Amino acid sequence: MWLYLAVLVGLYYLLRWYRERQVVSNLRDKYVFITGCDSGFGNQLARQLDLQGLRVLASCLTEKGAEQLRDRTSDRLQTVILDVTKTESIAAATQWIKERVGDRGLWGLVNNAGIAAPITPSEWLTKQDFMKILDVNLLGVIEVTLSLLPLVRKARGRVVNVSSVVGRLSLFGGGYCISKHGVEAFSDSLRRELSHFGVKVAIIEPGSFKTSLSNNNRISQSFREAWDHASPEVKEIYGEKFSASFVGPSGSAVWDATSAWLDEQCHVCTQDLNWWNPAPRKRSDGKA
Ligand SMILES: NC(=O)c1ccc[n+]([C@@H]2O[C@H](COP(=O)([O-])OP(=O)(O)OC[C@H]3O[C@@H](n4cnc5c(N)ncnc54)[C@H](OP(=O)(O)O)[C@@H]3O)[C@@H](O)[C@H]2O)c1
Repeated sequence: MWLYLAVLVGLYYLLRWYRERQVVSNLRDKYVFITGCDSGFGNQLARQLDLQGLRVLASCLTEKGAEQLRDRTSDRLQTVILDVTKTESIAAATQWIKERVGDRGLWGLVNNAGIAAPITPSEWLTKQDFMKILDVNLLGVIEVTLSLLPLVRKARGRVVNVSSVVGRLSLFGGGYCISKHGVEAFSDSLRRELSHFGVKVAIIEPGSFKTSLSNNNRISQSFREAWDHASPEVKEIYGEKFSASFVGPSGSAVWDATSAWLDEQCHVCTQDLNWWNPAPRKRSDGKA
């Protein structure tokens, strides 16, 4: 009896493994739109997909970022300026994409743009500090997705949302972990709603990578600014010693913990775009 059960379970995993890895055909005809391609993961993913021959529509926050990306890619890759916190900017980018994809629709939407600072004890922060991060990392993801869903549905495509390991387990204060938990919840409900239309929704949960988002100087500076603006009461409770220990030598924790292998994360995202049945959520090492 136990042997039959073990064989059945084994067969189930084998079938799942096989189904997941079926590669989508005609990838060269497919359009993929990525947010936040000025630097880091978005930039690398845009270049990688361009090399693979997909039609990449890359959005950057700045013209300088867009220009630098175009310089390093083929003529197939096109760029647009997008600030995911601005409704008008999202509407303009949506129109721009519509004109390019036409009746084919949009095969892939990768919601990648994000910010992390300030990362400090929550008590030091204001509502505005939280709103700043939620605006980009969560509301930006939601508004871009809602705006582009008709085009993704047309292609029976997929949405890939870049979350984080801290989208599963909150490790520090500030808006970042909250925003990533929100991205996970949004993605899970969207996946159920859209499965009827043949649209897939996948989440990537990277660990720690060396990008400008995790740059220790940036994080330390935002920590110092939050400390400077904290109320006298908070300063008295936490004390200079606590603040100095965070910003001092141990403050390099985020940077030190990072891996240089951005490629890994791009590889996982590529699977979400190229495989027929990508797993609903994956860490950046590809494990579900
Ligand atoms: N690096 C890690 O360790 C790590 C770990 C877990 C998850 N992630 C996630 O991975 C994603 C990419 O981050 P990354 O590490 O590659 O950092 P990054 O290099 O800073 O990339 C983030 C990109 O988002 C852009 N951006 C910022 N605000 C924006 C806005 N309002 N509208 C549009 N674009 C905006 C940035 O533009 P500028 O460069 O011009 O500011 C930048 O190009 C993020 O969602 C992040 O949360 C990263």
